[in-house]
Amino acid sequence: MLNTEYLGLKLKSPVIVSSGPLTQNAVSLKKCEEAGAGAVVLKSIFEEQIESDVSAEMEKNAEFLQHSSAEGFFEESSKNYYIDRYMKLLTAAKKELSIPVIASISAMRMDSWIEYAKRFEACGADAIELNYYPIASDASVPGSEVDEKAIEFAEIARKNISVPLSIKIGYKYSSLANIIRSFDKAGIDGAVLFNRFFRPDIDTETLEFTASSPSSSPDEYGEALRWIGLMSGEVKMDLCGNTGIHDGNTVVKMILAGAPAVEICTAIVKKGFSVIGEMNSFIEDWMKRHGYSSINEFKGLLAQEKTGEGYKWERTQFLKTIN
Ligand SMILES: Cc1cc2nc3c(=O)[nH]c(=O)nc-3n(C[C@H](O)[C@H](O)[C@H](O)COP(=O)(O)O)c2cc1C
Repeated sequence: MLNTEYLGLKLKSPVIVSSGPLTQNAVSLKKCEEAGAGAVVLKSIFEEQIESDVSAEMEKNAEFLQHSSAEGFFEESSKNYYIDRYMKLLTAAKKELSIPVIASISAMRMDSWIEYAKRFEACGADAIELNYYPIASDASVPGSEVDEKAIEFAEIARKNISVPLSIKIGYKYSSLANIIRSFDKAGIDGAVLFNRFFRPDIDTETLEFTASSPSSSPDEYGEALRWIGLMSGEVKMDLCGNTGIHDGNTVVKMILAGAPAVEICTAIVKKGFSVIGEMNSFIEDWMKRHGYSSINEFKGLLAQEKTGEGYKWERTQFLKTIN
């Protein structure tokens, strides 16, 4: 009853466990499957993390690395250590799980991204999620250039791998509609709307930078709902809901807006793996009450293309609500 198709993959539930703390080891991945998840996205491999760890190691071992060939060898083998570790997790997940396993790569350098992706593809990843999050903080670079870079990245990524490819993005683009359509034109199979980025904070006692909570709250799903509602009927690719999806009712909303699937993280961190089963049961009960026997029957029912009421998704002020 809950079968759906995402990135061309057949899922038995629209609830996917998103890349993060719950998808970084084999035991936890198995729990996701047992709890009823439709797929899992492995915790991202981060190029910036690898590079900073490798340079810290190189600094520690500087006296042994005086010859440039030793330095190059050390650097290469340290990087391989991280990639091999990720490939081991991916291989174990593919062996242990029967649901699709999606690898996630965060790299701002194209050559690194392609190298990782090709290796993960060879290990049997069912799809690759490109975790793309540039912070456009250089005031001399216009928005159009930021967008062009993202589109070029997606195009090259698409050309270099043959498994399905999704891109997970934030919502800080000057024209989300345009960039989503450009990803679609580039042949990307899906976009995850939206990643929830690290948010800085400040401790006013110690005068230090800190991190605010990485967990979302249940009222954060609105932006994903808006953009899925606006764009799902306009693009061929799948739009997957993410951020602030904490219960089955919100999953149903995302599907009504046009998402074939959603990714969740905080809900499981806060309520345990059983929340996946609770979401599945809620969706099933809701479908029975409304007379639907498949997800496809109500997917996109309230998307702007279907209702012709795009203005309701587009409205940004409360004027009509107040009246
Ligand atoms: C501790 C933590 C680690 C995360 N690590 C990653 C990651 O490696 N890659 C990624 O794409 N998203 C990562 N995320 C983001 C989640 O996948 C998800 O996009 C975000 O938490 C919003 O979904 P939610 O509201 O269901 O939590 C992480 C989230 C948390 C809380």
